[in-house]
Amino acid sequence: MTFSKTTFSVFFFVALLFLALTVVLKQWHFGVRETFGDAAAPDGLTPVRNRLLQQLEERQQELEQLCISSDNVPTTLGFMDPRTPETEIGCEELSGVNAVDFLGSGYTKTVLKAALPEGLFVALKSVNHQGTDMRLCMEDFKDHQSCHELVSFKLRKEIVLLQRLQHPNIIKFKGQCQDSALVGGITAVLEQGMPLQMIQLLQSPWEERFRVCLGLVRLLQYLSSSPLGSVALLDFQPRQFVMVSGELKLTDLDDASIEEARCEEDSDCLLQFPLRNFTFRCSSSRICEGLNEMRNLYNAYRYFFTYLLPHQAPPVLKPLVEKIMNSTGDLKQSINKTLVDFEEVLHVYKSGLHLENVPPLITKDYAVLKGMRSVGNMEYRCWPSYNEQGCVLSVHSAREAALICSSHPQCTSFSLSNERTWTGRLLASFRSGFSHLVPDVNSAVYMRRVKASGAVL
Ligand SMILES: Nc1ncnc2c1ncn2[C@@H]1O[C@H](COP(=O)(O)OP(=O)(O)O)[C@@H](O)[C@H]1O
Ligand SMILES: *[C@@H]1O[C@H](CO)[C@@H](O)[C@H](O)[C@H]1NC(C)=O
Ligand SMILES: *[C@@H]1O[C@H](CO)[C@@H](O)[C@H](O)[C@H]1NC(C)=O
Ligand SMILES: *[C@@H]1O[C@H](CO)[C@@H](O)[C@H](O)[C@H]1NC(C)=O
Ligand SMILES: [Mg+2]
Repeated sequence: MTFSKTTFSVFFFVALLFLALTVVLKQWHFGVRETFGDAAAPDGLTPVRNRLLQQLEERQQELEQLCISSDNVPTTLGFMDPRTPETEIGCEELSGVNAVDFLGSGYTKTVLKAALPEGLFVALKSVNHQGTDMRLCMEDFKDHQSCHELVSFKLRKEIVLLQRLQHPNIIKFKGQCQDSALVGGITAVLEQGMPLQMIQLLQSPWEERFRVCLGLVRLLQYLSSSPLGSVALLDFQPRQFVMVSGELKLTDLDDASIEEARCEEDSDCLLQFPLRNFTFRCSSSRICEGLNEMRNLYNAYRYFFTYLLPHQAPPVLKPLVEKIMNSTGDLKQSINKTLVDFEEVLHVYKSGLHLENVPPLITKDYAVLKGMRSVGNMEYRCWPSYNEQGCVLSVHSAREAALICSSHPQCTSFSLSNERTWTGRLLASFRSGFSHLVPDVNSAVYMRRVKASGAVL
């Protein structure tokens, strides 16, 4: 009896001490805030604290809203349901992995490259503690835990969007891990890409630049009538995309909006860009119909098409490319029609229709050695080559390669292998000489007759 009495008093004392300490700490906590002119309201909450709670509440509601709209999306294909556990990487799988590289960071998030035990690489996205979002929140609220939670809502929103929006040009979602200790501690596991290097892309062959633009148009067509409605990318910049094996993929989705703007009259449906303004119609249901789609399309024009598309386009495709530049630059047609134009360019390019004017007998100038590969090659450089040391270009056929070789003074031979580009065109390697030939069933060497015999053209 005496024992339990003692225990009780000890417990009571400890509890009292704890309470007192809490009060002291709280006082100190609020004291700090008061020095910033933030007096506590009668309910004990300061206006700043209130504002933080309100923001957390708003983000929570936005997320719930998004989850509700995405739950209405029918997922008929079981294997596509991201919640199917066997396809997801979770905390357990992540516990043993090491970050091997830094991939990038932005205002909100940091991305690290990690190796899974099976040797597979993934990208791990988490809150960027040094980022602008976190810094601004800390300046305002000075509460690390709540700020982390607030910023995490952006990543959580992105995860919901990545789970619901599935397209070859959107980065693949592979799983997530929610740290049990901290509300904000969430990590998204994504397919790993390489940050988009615009400068590098500008120097790459037209075919690869066209691939990026086509991928973007296919993506925007999907977003304009996605399972969640018409999605606008509010922060549309090259740095929100990465490259995966030559294909452009969207990775930053936290600034996506699935709402179309509401309006009273047409002048409410204004799209503003630094060099151009557009107005759209306010529909009878009082929304700016198609505004999200057009915003994305104009951004694609100003950040991607103007830099990547016209430059060095094959001559026969130039009129088609110019038509695309004109219609997107003036927002004259929908994303659906724009995609039709892009697919037309791809079709003409793949079919070799642009070679109709090439003299058919050009290959007569070349001796063909099928089943052979050249060794000890003398390379020369050309631009834009698929290979930095030599001259490797994509061609529709041996005929187009022969035409190119004949137009390069250094070229004495070229070879074709079974290597192909993404459009299915052949990769041809042009040379100024080689020391000998070896058998190779997958290769053919074409020697220029005039040059091979040493005659000067
Ligand atoms: N899956 C990925 N693979 C490789 N790099 C990535 C990947 N996702 C993002 N990155 C890089 O990390 C940067 C930051 O990611 P992002 O989602 O854009 O964060 P923020 O919202 O802070 O802008 C991107 O600009 C990109 O360069
Ligand atoms: C776009 O509209 C804004 C606001 O109406 C105006 O200030 C701006 O000058 C316009 N810009 C162009 C390029 O027309
Ligand atoms: C598109 O073509 C029209 C008519 O030729 C021209 O006036 C307009 O400036 C062009 N727009 C763009 C963006 O090139
Ligand atoms: C655009 O194409 C998509 C998919 O083919 C279709 O669902 C949508 O209705 C089309 N939009 C318009 C405006 O025709
Ligand atoms: Mg970003």
